[in-house]
Amino acid sequence: MQKVRPAAGHPAWVVLGYDAARRALNEPGISKDMLAALQQAGDVVAEGLPGPEFSRHMLNVDPPDHTRLRRLVSRAFVPGRIAALEAAVRAMADSLLDELDAAGPGAAVDLIEGYAYPLPFGVIGELLGIPAADRPRLHAWFGVLLTGWAGDPPPGAVQASDGIVAYLRALVDAKRQSPADDLVSVLVAAEDDALTTQELLSSLFQLVVAGHDTTASLIGNGVVALLDNPAQLQALLADLGQLPAAIDELIRFTAPVPHATFRMTAEPVTFDSVQIPAHEQVLVCLAAANRDPDRFSEPDVLDIGRGDGPNLGFGHGIHYCLGAPLARLEARIAFETLLSRYPGLRLAADRNSLTWAHGDGLVLRGLTSLPVVLDPGRRPG
Ligand code: HEM
Repeated sequence: MQKVRPAAGHPAWVVLGYDAARRALNEPGISKDMLAALQQAGDVVAEGLPGPEFSRHMLNVDPPDHTRLRRLVSRAFVPGRIAALEAAVRAMADSLLDELDAAGPGAAVDLIEGYAYPLPFGVIGELLGIPAADRPRLHAWFGVLLTGWAGDPPPGAVQASDGIVAYLRALVDAKRQSPADDLVSVLVAAEDDALTTQELLSSLFQLVVAGHDTTASLIGNGVVALLDNPAQLQALLADLGQLPAAIDELIRFTAPVPHATFRMTAEPVTFDSVQIPAHEQVLVCLAAANRDPDRFSEPDVLDIGRGDGPNLGFGHGIHYCLGAPLARLEARIAFETLLSRYPGLRLAADRNSLTWAHGDGLVLRGLTSLPVVLDPGRRPG
């Protein structure tokens, strides 16, 4: 373990190995209480947008608040509810590809803007109860907020953040007046008794971010990884039933969430014989843990048939990704629909011109765009 100063400017102790990462994610002395950390440690902590008043969600608190907030939101993520989304996700995937197809045979289209991003955004919109007509506006604001930046926010980010905050406040007001069968209404019904308005708004903000950008990155990163490894792509095309395992391997290999989110020592902690003082940041590198040679054989090789067990791409411990079943379902349908319609899919840009840039670059790793040709080609076998 070593102390580093990442590009975003805040010094942190970095955890790299697989076992160490699992232990760090379970270490009670390492806290996720962002507001407490801001009070105690000041500028060691990045506030981000839209600011601390929107930061009171499950990913930024410790038990017992974490337990309470996670339990409330979990109601929308019960397995039956996720499985019931399958037909709707498939219809969305097909309709997005139909729109891209309209560009004509051989045309270059952006798979991020036209498919990877709007698909999970539409799904989280359905789950939360965001009207379809409002999604493009919200989608555009989140796009600005999550574009690569380090240090000061780029022009437009503050306005985008203000737009999102005002929109979510208005959505909550609307659901207070006319509740529906959606997650915003479930949380509004619990407001005051089980969660504060600040926690409600923060949770919605976090769910929209966590619920679309990550899966969008997995789809984009995964397509590039498969095109980079044609033998793996052909093996997958020969049997799309391998997709569930392939998706876990694509998460391991392409790291849509390369580092766990903000953590800080609440007290002095001794970790692997290193003394970390109180109120210092700890950065758990999931991408490195997932390529730890002590845990994975040939870790730098993409192997969709790899049988060496779970990876840490969805985190570990009490903050393990609540949306993992939804993300797996979305990714399975996204790849299944794309690859069965366009087995001859190919890049329409120089591979070296692709750029990965997102947020502070630490927690989200996704492509800015992915020009491809949707070639019907032929499936092997
Ligand atoms: C490929 C897609 C995804 C990846 C790789 C991913 C990854 C992660 C990771 C690594 C964490 C733990 C972060 C930490 O401990 O600091 C996490 C937490 C979380 N994720 Fe995901 N995620 C994905 C998709 C989703 C989706 C679709 C949702 C749905 C809304 C979602 C909702 C959440 C929530 C609510 C948490 C916080 C859990 C808690 O604090 O108890 N994620 N995710």
